[in-house]
Amino acid sequence: MCGIVGYIGKQDAQEILMSGLRRLEYRGYDSAGIALLCEEGNPEVKVIKREGALSEGLEAALEKGSFSQSGIGIGHTRWATHGAPSDRNAHPHTDCHQQIAVVHNGIIENYSELQADLEQLGHCIQTEVDSEVIPHLIEHFKNEDHDILSAVRETVRRLQGAYALAIVDHSSNSSLIGVRQDSPLVVGIGDGENYLASDVAALLPYTRDVIILENGDLAHLTVDDVVIYDEDGVVIERSITHVDWDAEMAEKGGYPHFMLKEIEEQPASWEATLQGRIKNGDIHLPEITFTRADLETVEQIYLVGCGTSFHAGLAAMPMFENLLRMPVRTEIASEFRYRDPVLGPEVLTVFISQSGETADTLACLELAAKHGAQTVAITNVVGSSLSRKADHVIYTRAGPEISVASTKTYTAQLLVLQLLACHLTRLSGLLAGHEMSEDVRALLKEMPHLPQKMRDLLQDHAPIKEMARYVAGWQDAFFIGRGLDYAAAMEGQLKLKEISYIHAEAYPAGELKHGTLALVEPGIPVLAVSTQAHLRSKMSSNIEEVRARGGWIGLVTDLKEGRLIDMAQSVIFVPPTAPSLAPLLVAGVLQLLAYYAAVLRGCPVDMPRNLAKSVTVE
Ligand code: F6R
Repeated sequence: MCGIVGYIGKQDAQEILMSGLRRLEYRGYDSAGIALLCEEGNPEVKVIKREGALSEGLEAALEKGSFSQSGIGIGHTRWATHGAPSDRNAHPHTDCHQQIAVVHNGIIENYSELQADLEQLGHCIQTEVDSEVIPHLIEHFKNEDHDILSAVRETVRRLQGAYALAIVDHSSNSSLIGVRQDSPLVVGIGDGENYLASDVAALLPYTRDVIILENGDLAHLTVDDVVIYDEDGVVIERSITHVDWDAEMAEKGGYPHFMLKEIEEQPASWEATLQGRIKNGDIHLPEITFTRADLETVEQIYLVGCGTSFHAGLAAMPMFENLLRMPVRTEIASEFRYRDPVLGPEVLTVFISQSGETADTLACLELAAKHGAQTVAITNVVGSSLSRKADHVIYTRAGPEISVASTKTYTAQLLVLQLLACHLTRLSGLLAGHEMSEDVRALLKEMPHLPQKMRDLLQDHAPIKEMARYVAGWQDAFFIGRGLDYAAAMEGQLKLKEISYIHAEAYPAGELKHGTLALVEPGIPVLAVSTQAHLRSKMSSNIEEVRARGGWIGLVTDLKEGRLIDMAQSVIFVPPTAPSLAPLLVAGVLQLLAYYAAVLRGCPVDMPRNLAKSVTVE
């Protein structure tokens, strides 16, 4: 995710901002920049920003330039969500006269409306980035005789979405402003100097005393003072917290591994994925710009990906099929590309890739495009090769994932696929003059509740850790499920094998008796997933078959009581939800199961042997 640093004091702001940005590099970014208020004779805010790593872009640019020393500035590492990574799209962004500079973490949902209004007023927007409207709005309110604090307040009243902002203004050059709404921001308290940061990691060499801002807070920092205001401009008290993390703990937000941090980030990541996409019970995916003719031609859908991304397709496929009532297939990219599949304008192809750079998935997209199929990319990385080559792109907005094993990006992909299934159903319904179907209505109603359900589920790791303790003692494990539970089991087994090195296999539960049952010996862990009510009795019979051979049953279910529960040696409960959304919650359990098994076995969780985060070779 993007990172923010701000400084006001007597030291060299440039040096402190760069040191802070280096400490935020672990969060992942594609460009970076700083803005300095130079005291002597500079008519404007000095902004330097570059695409690429700090060591390649920004540092070199700063070495070449000669800037008079400044004690006030803001810095940013950007991880693109709107507009590809480039020098121009990097933060800070400024107003028309380069008097106000702003760095922003988050997403401004109503930026296109705001941009249209500002352009009408004569403002010149220079980038493709949602954040740029902010300095122009501040400029607008300053032109209407608001002082800087009131101009910022008026500006944030007009913003919809999530934001943490750091702002400098040339005309009030002895202060620094921070604002927070649904995106973290802290104030660092120093002696004769103060700081802003999106993450305490940036501040550790300078201060461990921080004020954690709450939603709606506006912090006004001067060299000697910090004043916090609420939304109405009333001064409020916020206590100072002393942080005693070391630098490594801070990078991981206090978690021992990035994987655990990323599992825990899922509720917030889902909120970002859903943000602005479900409004008043209806769905908005402006990224998908099918014409009536495009949509009416579609007769078949392929969902294509590798590894975990393929599993996201597997878990979404039944929803596409059920809602759209047309053939839908999920394909492994490395197989699909060499199979001469049936492709043409009547086929909609959806390519799923966290990195957007996986060689096999890219080759499939090229193949589909060559045959005239319509292409949609679902990826986490703005400006990635996949996003540049597809007809339509939907970003998952999960934030950068550092651990090699995909966790939050998998569930974000699945959520986006589910949104896409609803969107296509809604569009074809509209074309046929139909009301929104009850099925789509119910799904759109339930989706916004998922983040809280995941938060509840992730509250208590103890039973999952207990289950992992048993599994970690074995060299083999099986995962079983039916329907969507089988799709969830597939991802569960991949997570377990890749990070704990336990040999794991997932099977459709009804398929066990056709061969694999021969491997079930007394005590062997069999992880059974059962969230699909219509398959419950069938699943019970399959579990009985395992029990009869002495298998150890670890059950993941939304059922609170019943025969199924009595059959299991260990049970993890997931909150009830719509059956087609259950794999999202089951993922949380199976990710933690793999995580704790790997920790217990002493494996290098974040960097499993032989694996890479981005697979750009065949
Ligand atoms: C497993 C994992 C891999 C990736 C696969 C595809 O945890 O991360 O299986 O899912 O290499 O990568 P992307 O999604 O970048 O195309």
